Amino acid sequence: MKDMQAYQRYFVSKSQPKNYRTRSLVLDRPLADAQPGQFVMAWLPDIGEKPFSIAGADPLTLTVADVGPFSRALCCLEAGQPLWVRGPLGQGFELKGKRHILVGGGYGAAPLFFLAKRALTRGDEVCVCLGARNQAELLLADDFRELGCRVELATEDGSTGQRGLVLEAVRAALTDFPAQTLYACGPKPMLLALAAFCKDNQLAGQFSWEAMMRCGIGLCGSCEIDETTCDAVGLGHGWLTCKDGPVSFYQPG
Ligand SMILES: Cc1cc2nc3c(=O)[nH]c(=O)nc-3n(C[C@H](O)[C@H](O)[C@H](O)COP(=O)(O)OP(=O)(O)OC[C@H]3O[C@@H](n4cnc5c(N)ncnc54)[C@H](O)[C@@H]3O)c2cc1C
Ligand code: FES
Repeated sequence: MKDMQAYQRYFVSKSQPKNYRTRSLVLDRPLADAQPGQFVMAWLPDIGEKPFSIAGADPLTLTVADVGPFSRALCCLEAGQPLWVRGPLGQGFELKGKRHILVGGGYGAAPLFFLAKRALTRGDEVCVCLGARNQAELLLADDFRELGCRVELATEDGSTGQRGLVLEAVRAALTDFPAQTLYACGPKPMLLALAAFCKDNQLAGQFSWEAMMRCGIGLCGSCEIDETTCDAVGLGHGWLTCKDGPVSFYQPG
């Protein structure tokens, strides 16, 4: 069996700009046994190690927003340069039903891209709702369209798509896209609003949470979700994002 803890050295094949501060790093070979919603720990010696969602497994692809020192170092990698990864780690999404609504905020679009690809391969229908502060912050909308997904956009300033939060785009999409399951990845307030929406509307939901990670394998406790969030979405206290998640599941009773 493959050791998920062993570092594997990859080389960058391509670094593609996706918006003004985000790049997709396409690496030189696949990551075996990866499921959508799982993540890898990416390591650059002397710089650090951080978790990144798997945006594609064949070849391994990471979509990285340049927001700080480590993500900037990744975004500066050029074709031919190495990086090391551990993984795939964590529990990913599980495709349920044949009609799926995927909801992404910011780089939350990255794992959803991998999920959309898997769903379309099964012959399922996929509607993707993407939210951002403004048009410049939107991510992967054209990539999802090219894949064959229906795409609905929402921006807080109304610069493209519906004006407002992504939940409004979800409400609108569901009027003529009767999805069986909602899958979401993005900032915590977005996930909390969507979890409440799923509960109110008896819609099955899967939510990918973000937390500060160090070990990535359930040892250090740094990625424990706070109790208020656990109570709000029905998770047991002590839920570890890296090991129990990052995806949590809601099934209406
Ligand atoms: C399971 C999981 C999956 C992840 N997947 C991805 C992914 O696919 N792509 C990706 O880019 N990142 C992803 N992240 C986040 C990533 O691990 C880093 O936290 C992020 O790259 C920032 O690291 P840094 O060292 O560059 O900046 P830091 O020094 O950690 O952060 C710099 C500053 O930016 C702020 N910041 C952090 N993230 C954001 C953000 N998204 N937007 C605005 N400000 C921010 C921080 O609060 C801080 O003030 C994921 C995290 C987890 C837990
Ligand atoms: S990152 Fe160490 S327990 Fe989750």
